[in-house]
Amino acid sequence: MTSFSVTGGRPLQGTIRVPGDKSISHRALILAALAEGTSVVGGLSDGDDVARTRAAVEAMGATCDGEKITGGRSRLHEPDDVLDMGNSGTGIRLLAGLCAGFPWLTVLTGDGSIRRRPMSRVADPLRAMGAQVDGRDGGRLPPLVVRGGSLRGIDYNLPVPSAQVKSAVLLAGLSAVGETVVRQPVVTRAHTEEMLAACGADLEVSDDGLDVRVRPSALQPFQLDVPGDPSQAAFWVVAACIVPGSEVVVDDVYIGPARTGFLDVLGRMGADVERVGERSIRARYSPHMEGTQVAGGEIVGLIDEIPVLAVAGAVAAGRLVFRDVEELRVKESDRVATIIEGLAAMGATVTYDDGGLAVQGEANLCGGEVHSRQDHRIAMALAVAGLAAEGTTVVDGWDAVATSYPGFERDMETLCAS
Ligand code: S3P
Repeated sequence: MTSFSVTGGRPLQGTIRVPGDKSISHRALILAALAEGTSVVGGLSDGDDVARTRAAVEAMGATCDGEKITGGRSRLHEPDDVLDMGNSGTGIRLLAGLCAGFPWLTVLTGDGSIRRRPMSRVADPLRAMGAQVDGRDGGRLPPLVVRGGSLRGIDYNLPVPSAQVKSAVLLAGLSAVGETVVRQPVVTRAHTEEMLAACGADLEVSDDGLDVRVRPSALQPFQLDVPGDPSQAAFWVVAACIVPGSEVVVDDVYIGPARTGFLDVLGRMGADVERVGERSIRARYSPHMEGTQVAGGEIVGLIDEIPVLAVAGAVAAGRLVFRDVEELRVKESDRVATIIEGLAAMGATVTYDDGGLAVQGEANLCGGEVHSRQDHRIAMALAVAGLAAEGTTVVDGWDAVATSYPGFERDMETLCAS
């Protein structure tokens, strides 16, 4: 187990670029594997999660040579071994959807965290399309065993608003007979449908963005420069807001509305944050932040940023309350428990009641020993808290950060150097 020590009080200054967006990176590799020819994809996330998806599509017959990925249905074949998706929920769920479309046996597994995460949400619709999907605990937990092929389209109402589930069903729908419709209760990140449309898939999205229809399609190869990951930018944005004397610009970052709910919440809290042009975010120290209420309908647009927003809430005045955060319990860790534990160890009070998470502000954050519980976003959020805390914070289980942001320490050093 590795640790990372952060000493508080050093302002963050400068301009930074974060790793390529993780959600877009997974999808780029999967769509390039399906596309008939060679796609060119630059700026992929350098984290372990995306490396696992790259290895998985290679195990199915796609070839990756630097930025060039050559795929096509006739090249793809049954993987000859278990696919180990590491810590990646997006990887395992999207791959389950992809593999369901082919007449193969695929076994998908991952680390201890993945093997505790719910898979019925993808297994149920894939079974309804005609795939055989089994797994531990009556088919609910990985390893997942998918025997695919001969799918038929379905009309599916998502029981949980999940872009991963939507994407798994759409990917399976590319290989199904007839039309597949996915209906969402709220709009989730739309990377899959946007990228499928760019590859020429036979696809329609309703005007309100909620319903997506796809029909069997051959995909065209594409060129893509993956923009920076707003969920990673959020760590530096919050750090700049809470450490006196800071000003940070995150350049070349994806700032689509389904991913930047955290900027809206910070804005409501009185933070000095702004979108600059089409691809940058500027954040400055914001001494007068105050908590706000985050409604259930907003959660899907900022779910991954709740750990670091909670840190902002602990420093701000008043209370920051997130409604309807049950989904947090089934992320890389039970984030309700790990946010409460980590921030309590640093002197802040966070409570969970009736599906809502409340962060009491004006905490005097102090250093100490905290644990990531092997969750990358918890590790990085606690490191950000450490920047605003008195003394030194030691984050144990730091190795988890390699799943999404291997260069986090280096970037912190760069920003704090002045
Ligand atoms: C993701 C969707 C979200 C998000 C995850 C990435 C994606 O998960 O939390 O980090 O790339 O589709 P859910 O689909 O489970 O909400």
